[in-house]
Amino acid sequence: RPHLRAHVLDGLVMDDVPLVNIAREAGTPTWVYSAATLRRRHAALRDALREAGLAASIHFAAKANDSLAVLRVLGDEGAGADVVSEGELRAARAAGIPASRIVFSGVGKSAREIALALEEGILQINAESAEEVERIAEVAAATGREAPVTLRINPDVDARTHAKISTGLAENKFGIAYGDAAALYARMASLPGIRPTGLAVHIGSQITEGMAAYRAAYARVADLARALLARGLPIERLDCGGGLGIPYRDEIAPTPAALAGAIRATLGPLGLPVMLEPGRWIAGPAGVLLASVVLQKRGQNRRFVVLDAAMNDLVRPAMYEAWHGILPLAPDALHAPLAPADVVGPVCETGDTFARGRALPDLPPGALVAFLDAGAYGATMSSTYNARPLAAEVLVDGHRWAVTRPRQSHEALLANQVVPDWLGAAA
Ligand code: LLP
Repeated sequence: RPHLRAHVLDGLVMDDVPLVNIAREAGTPTWVYSAATLRRRHAALRDALREAGLAASIHFAAKANDSLAVLRVLGDEGAGADVVSEGELRAARAAGIPASRIVFSGVGKSAREIALALEEGILQINAESAEEVERIAEVAAATGREAPVTLRINPDVDARTHAKISTGLAENKFGIAYGDAAALYARMASLPGIRPTGLAVHIGSQITEGMAAYRAAYARVADLARALLARGLPIERLDCGGGLGIPYRDEIAPTPAALAGAIRATLGPLGLPVMLEPGRWIAGPAGVLLASVVLQKRGQNRRFVVLDAAMNDLVRPAMYEAWHGILPLAPDALHAPLAPADVVGPVCETGDTFARGRALPDLPPGALVAFLDAGAYGATMSSTYNARPLAAEVLVDGHRWAVTRPRQSHEALLANQVVPDWLGAAA
């Protein structure tokens, strides 16, 4: 984690900014992202693809982090976006990412979303079913536009990741069954409003178990692409999805070079441009979640560290049994003796547990901690459960930092609600 370092005087530092300064001024819980790390990781992926001799474009998966500041940093580096909703499409455009670099993925796009994508002049829509292809054709006809459509296939391979984030098995809801794909692609070519642009695949997220699943999925795409080309059907490019895992704890994660090698070995011979839709690999290690200790509580035989952050902020531990590193921010805490603690939030659920038996120093009320690798699927998955306002977001860029989304106010939390007239005045 080159952007994070322990400094004897300042405690934990991101880029050039001590995180305690940010916590003091912006309060907690607060998400903090490193612009330098975002740039460096985007460049590392781009370089790995280039060194493998691939003509490749990177489309950041906005679901991992849809902060406008983060999207702007990546867009300025030349990244496109992979979006799955009208909201994400609007966020990417608002951050200045041109529509010509945006892919629209997802298993259930509404007619309204398709129309907006076409109106914006989007690079491509990834269709996942025959029903969706027909819907896109209808919207295209109604709006007089041509829809660039890539077909996402379900390769039926096991990415060997957590069941909740595995997407490439036949039993998963994603993609078109492999056996049905060729006929549907031909159908796409026959529809006047549709320009078939290629094939896509995405087998899952947080893939760490080597490259075998990737290679198997890409090989199926390559076979299908060859068959389609042999039939005279046009293919402009191939979309390799996202999924590259990161080491949250001690996992051995595959490198960008390994992924690029797998793509070259399977899809390279086709000589077509390829696309990647990474989210976690770029943004995960670029962000932390800062939290304060509310109190330390002694259970019957456990120590509980109760934070002001909770599962409504960072849901990954509760939802996927995910492990996130937790580091104290203060300089003295970095060298203090360690003892096991359960780190929990104040939400009224046992699942609101970030870590069990974690080795941590004494953390008195007010002590600050950072959750590591929280830049992907952190803030984007937050909710206001227990009427807890959404946390603030901060971007660090060298020695500068700014609040990029202020903490939601309690007024804002209640602002849009209506008590119907017929209920009368409060008793
Ligand atoms: N492309 C498509 C079509 C996707 O569905 C996804 C993620 C990505 C790209 C980006 O995948 P990545 O490179 O980030 O692995 N909330 C879960 C992860 C859900 C991923 C959903 N799809 C988590 O916190 O682990």
